[in-house]
Amino acid sequence: MVQVTPFLLLLSLALVAPGLSAKKCVLTGTWTNDLGSNMTIEAVNGLGNFAGTYHTAVTATTNKIQRSPLQGSQHHVNQKSQPTFGFTVNWSFSDSVTVFTGQCFVDETGREVLKTMWLLRSWVNDLKDDWKATRVGINIFHRLRSQRE
Ligand code: BTN
Repeated sequence: MVQVTPFLLLLSLALVAPGLSAKKCVLTGTWTNDLGSNMTIEAVNGLGNFAGTYHTAVTATTNKIQRSPLQGSQHHVNQKSQPTFGFTVNWSFSDSVTVFTGQCFVDETGREVLKTMWLLRSWVNDLKDDWKATRVGINIFHRLRSQRE
């Protein structure tokens, strides 16, 4: 009995410790990127799907910027603590669509960061203009307000 107790203690530590060390990166919340754009991602459902809104700070058009809806999905297999994801923004104020893909990381200070790449497809009037209709770039997002501990 005297030897069983320390063994059980060690066993429970081994089971609990990995969960304590790996902080999970969670997409839900409000984020801001390096351009000053803000987005809010609502709850991620059991299939990994989510909705949200995107307020871009910049536009390739001369139109007045409006908050726009986004739809996305997060990879949910194995419940990874730093999941990959993708989402599409269907711009309310232009005929364009942007797709983002990326990964949700926890950096060395414990801060969550979304590293993304995007393709912005702009509407063009003519097939001859197709060559110049797609822009590519990267955006880095950090959580705007601290919503989690
Ligand atoms: C448009 O100009 O037709 C729609 C707005 C596009 C904004 C782009 S999407 C990629 C990049 N990241 C942002 O936060 N905004 C720009």
